[in-house]
Formats: sequence, structure tokens, C-alpha cells
Amino acid sequence: MSYVYRLHLHVNGKRGADLLQDPHLNKGTAFTDRERDALGLRGLLPPRVSTIDQQVARVLENIRRKTSDIEKYIFLVALQDRQETLFYRVVMDNIEEMMPIIYTPTVGQGCVEFGHIFRRPRGLYVSYKNRGRVRELLNNWPYRGVRVIVVTDGERILGLGDLGAQGMGIPIGKLSLYTACAGIQPTQCMPVMLDCGTDNEALLNDPLYIGYPSVRLRGSAYDEFVEEFFDAVEEIFPKACVQLEDFGNANAFRLLSKYMERACVFDDDIQGTGAVTLAGIYSALRITGGRLSDQKFLFLGAGEAGIGIGDLIVTGLMAEGMPEAEARARCWYVDIRGLVVKSRTDLSHHHLPYAHDHAAIGDFRQAVEAVQPTAIIGVSGVGGLFTRQVIEAMAQINHRPIIFSLSNPTSKSECTAEEAYKWSGGRAVFASGSPFPPVTYEDRTLITGQSNNSYIFPGVGLGVVASEATRIPDEMFFAAAKALAETVTDEERAVGRIFPKLDRIREVSIAIAVAVAEVAFRRGLTKLHRPADLTGYIKGKMYVPVYEDYVPKL
Ligand code: NAI
Repeated sequence: MSYVYRLHLHVNGKRGADLLQDPHLNKGTAFTDRERDALGLRGLLPPRVSTIDQQVARVLENIRRKTSDIEKYIFLVALQDRQETLFYRVVMDNIEEMMPIIYTPTVGQGCVEFGHIFRRPRGLYVSYKNRGRVRELLNNWPYRGVRVIVVTDGERILGLGDLGAQGMGIPIGKLSLYTACAGIQPTQCMPVMLDCGTDNEALLNDPLYIGYPSVRLRGSAYDEFVEEFFDAVEEIFPKACVQLEDFGNANAFRLLSKYMERACVFDDDIQGTGAVTLAGIYSALRITGGRLSDQKFLFLGAGEAGIGIGDLIVTGLMAEGMPEAEARARCWYVDIRGLVVKSRTDLSHHHLPYAHDHAAIGDFRQAVEAVQPTAIIGVSGVGGLFTRQVIEAMAQINHRPIIFSLSNPTSKSECTAEEAYKWSGGRAVFASGSPFPPVTYEDRTLITGQSNNSYIFPGVGLGVVASEATRIPDEMFFAAAKALAETVTDEERAVGRIFPKLDRIREVSIAIAVAVAEVAFRRGLTKLHRPADLTGYIKGKMYVPVYEDYVPKL
């Protein structure tokens, strides 16, 4: 291959200003002298050549002087749009600091203000306005090798409700985490907004709203549109895995059960949440002692998160040899209308397996006393419902009560870390959805675990991509949960942590990916043969943010 041709390949034939405008290729001030001469960049950059470390230092200095998180978010989005390698280097080297900005909680505000802070498009907008032409839209995407798609219709963005097309910030943020936490190649990621309108009046009346300004599509027209999207994905990106994200309750369960049998699909709000929470439970059991089959769970909230967690706990109990009916009997739910019991007439399809033969109870504390759970799991989206009485009752029933207060953001948490420890006499094994600062109780400093889905979905994605799995059965999430729990070290557990430190996330994602890929090979869900060194094979596929030398020495 000729030298000039090799050079051409490295930079897709781009030169000069075009190269600086391409976020995948742009290195900014880090273009070397040889590159500047060979690629027509002389004069277009200040003369001093920087290292990537110097560029990282410059970025950090700029981010840290921003006084609000939304400004930091805007800055980071802009960096991703102009110099992707540097963006990932900054995020990966400073994951604890950057994750709350590129993902929850700041991304929520980013979505609320999306139309107002909009600068440059990212991701694919598949709007109902363009129904009948979805294939054409997908064909417009500039990269052919798409392997992970995160798609939302924006109906239930985080705890913020219907944000219509402005929910695009979530697929973008999640895919950034796929790359940062698990090394999925950026060009293999495609964020998709399935824009079906919005019922959010404020957005409909906002002239800067970026979506199709119409009320939300429902019924068979909605289903046909989603079907058109899945058909187009199957045809144009047949190797892609599709993550359903932040769909409204009624659609999320329906779409998952409809598509998981026929496509490579999962729902992070249901299955990802299930896996991270089950991992937290396994990890908590290493502190409290006992097996999963010794536990009884009472959920506050029976939505996507609650049912997703219950379903995976059932998978876990069945793996320990428990019959399904008995496993379901270990999971109890209280929702906005009280205890989920057989006599209720307002239950949805997904509640029925958990509706027990029991008298109706309206109050959560009474439910705690009636059910006598070993663990309570808050996924109601309502702050403060784990009251002092609830936690004291749990501490009376159990020597080490497991208390997971998972609702986000912090203001919606069912209780704070401090309340859980204080009211249980320091005995609670606690995890939360939002981060809480360490708590000093008597002479101990307790560091709470954050039950964050980003421990799970990047690793699952990596395992699916690397193994070329064609389906994502629940068994993969069960394997992911076990693998995640096993990554927690004794030192981490000693201070109350039931999840690993976030700065080990790449190592954690590899462990999860291996476990997921093993399921694919064992279950025959791939045409690939299992590589002898599966871990090495997976590691070899991971993206690393280093600048490629475009003009190597002859
Ligand atoms: P959802 O809207 O599907 O379900 C909410 C459930 O809570 C419903 O069953 C509703 O009846 C119940 N509920 C509402 N108010 C209540 C009240 N006053 N008393 C009793 N029950 C009440 O929402 P989803 O997706 O299940 O999420 C719930 C919460 O879990 C959100 O705050 C979300 O941020 C959080 N979450 C946390 C995750 C994590 O930590 N890893 C992952 C996914 C969700």
C-alpha cells in the first residue's frame, strides 16, 4: 500500500480545515509537526504542539471554573462535538466528577432546556412527521457499523415526565457512557429519538421546542411507527443491539415483551435496574449473611423499576432451586393504591404475578409489619416515604435490615443515607439511586453505594457486541448482576459500600461482558465460536482514547 494511500485512509481523505471540523479525527493543538505539514494544517493551529495530557489539563481548568452544572454540561457536549478523543480522555480519567454531568442528574436539566441550549445536532431524529421513510432516515446515518442503538420516545425522561424530542439528551448521554465505561467504539453507537410528539403543554407552546409540535401519537399508529423503526434497524443495522430507554410505563413493558423474542433488545429501566439492584442485594447478603432464598422483599412502587427488579430476583431465586410460584411469593409490592393484592381490580398485566392473597393494606408501614420483609426497596419516585417509623420497624424485624432507597433525583429518595443509618442504630445496609455524602455514625464512617444502572448496561452492551449475540435474555442480566456483585472488594464492603468504586468501571464492565458473552456462547445465541481467551478477546475490542499517528514515519 502506498504511503500517500495509507495517509488518505487514516484521515478519510480529509485535509486542512475539514480535518479540524471532524470530531472523530480532530486532535486540535496535538497535531504533530509532521501532520501539520502533510495535511495542510500549517497556520491553522497555534504553533506550539500540545500533548493530550496538556489538553486535558486545559479542559479541566475550563470546566472547573464554570459555576453551574448545566454550563459544565454545555461545555462537555461542545467538546464531544469538536474533539471526541479528548472528550473521552477527560471523562474516563475523571469519571466520578464527569458522570454526574454527562449523565444523571445534570443531563435531566440538559433535556429540560434542550431546545434552548441546542447548538449542533447529534444522534438520529426519527420523527413521526417522516413516517413511511424511516429506512431512508437510517440510511442517512454516516456510519455503517452501528452496534448499539439507544432509543427513546421521550415520554418518561428520568423522573421528569414527558419531554418529547428533548429527551434526546438521554440516548446521547447513555451512549457516551457505553464508550467511556465499556469501550464501545463511538462510531458503533447511534442515539435515536423516536419523535412521536409530546403531551407537554409547555413544550408545545415553546417556539424553541425542537420536536414535532403535536400531541403524542397513541394506539395502532404508534405501534406501526415503532414497527417501521424495528424493521428498518433489522435491515440496515442487522448487528445492532437496541436499548429501549425512558418509554412511558404502558409502552415499555409492551414493547419489551413484543421485541425481545424477535430482536436483540433490552430495556434498561426494567432489566438494567433489575440487574444493578440484584447485584446490590447479593453484595448486601455478603454483609448480612444468608442466601437470596432466605429473603423477603417489600417494594414501595410497582412501576418499571420495581417490577424489573422483582422479575430478576425471581430469576435469581429460581437459580437457587426455588419454584417460580414460591419465588414470586417472596416479592411484595405497595403502589400508590396500597398493597398489591388479588382483590384489587386496578392491576396491570405486569402486576398480576405479584398479587398476593392478602387483606388490603393502604399504608406502607403497616405493610412492613404485615409482610415482615428482610429488605425494603423504594422505587416510588416520591421522597421521604421511608419514614422513621418504617426504618425503626425494619430494624426491629431484622438485625441488619436491607434498605434501598432508589428513587432519583436526591429530592425523591425515599430516605437519606443519614436517616437510614441513624434510625436503624447504624445497622442498615443501605444503597441509594442518587449519591449521598459519607455518613459518620458513632465512630464509623459509612460510604453508601449508589445503585447506578451505569454499572450494568455498558458491560452488557460490550458482552453482546463482542459475542455478536442475537438476543438478550434475562439470564444475561442475572449473570451481569452476579458478576457485578463479585467485583466488590472486602475493603469496599468494610466501609459499607455494596458497589465497586466508579473509577474501576472499565474493569467491572469487562467482568460483566465476559459473563454476558458466556451466556451467549452457552445458549447458542451467536454464530461465533468462543475464543479461548475470552477476556483478552473482549479487552482487544475496547476503544481507548489515544490519538492515532496519522503520518507515521516511513
Ligand atoms: P414508574 O412511574 O414506572 O413507577 C412508579 C411507581 O411508584 C408506581 O407503581 C406508582 O404507583 C408508585 N407510587 C407513586 N407514588 C406513590 C406513593 N405515594 N406511594 C406508593 N407508591 C407510589 O417509575 P419507575 O421507572 O419505576 O421509577 C421509579 C423511581 O425509581 C424513579 O424515581 C426513578 O428515578 C428510580 N429509578 C432508579 C434507578 C436506580 O437507582 N438505578 C433505576 C430506575 C429507576
